[in-house]
Amino acid sequence: MSNIEQTLSIIKPDAVERNLQDQIKNDFKNNGFKILKEKKIHITKEEAEKFYKVHESKPFYNDLCTYLSSGPIIVMNLEKDNAVLENRKLMGSTNPKEAEEGTIRKKYGISIDKNSVHGSDSVENAKIELDFFFKS
Ligand code: CMP
Repeated sequence: MSNIEQTLSIIKPDAVERNLQDQIKNDFKNNGFKILKEKKIHITKEEAEKFYKVHESKPFYNDLCTYLSSGPIIVMNLEKDNAVLENRKLMGSTNPKEAEEGTIRKKYGISIDKNSVHGSDSVENAKIELDFFFKS
């Protein structure tokens, strides 16, 4: 039975800066994802703080928000069967050093902060995160 889902993916500043967006988009397409919507934006630190509010109590929160607002990012609305889990598999572990061969973070990530991509971690959060960037 099919279970079509949508999820949010962000190509983070370190990857956009290195001009990796086309390669990363091809990784998604080659793995069966449809990119329904996408836009290149440069968010403010306040917007990053809202987006990552769930991490507010973490010691890395401030640096994380400074980083996500440090340069242009590409936000994408992806669709696929089981898109949330499939995207997490394709991204690999949060820390690129622990990511599996062939995953996006293994191929392109520099560090746990500069890990090239973000993806929603649940169907519920995917809805919230898609609304955050795409609700008009
Ligand atoms: P992301 O999937 O965008 O969600 C939160 C981000 O916090 C995560 O990717 C990492 O880039 C970043 N981060 C920095 N330090 C840590 C840490 N110790 N554990 C988890 N995430 C971290």
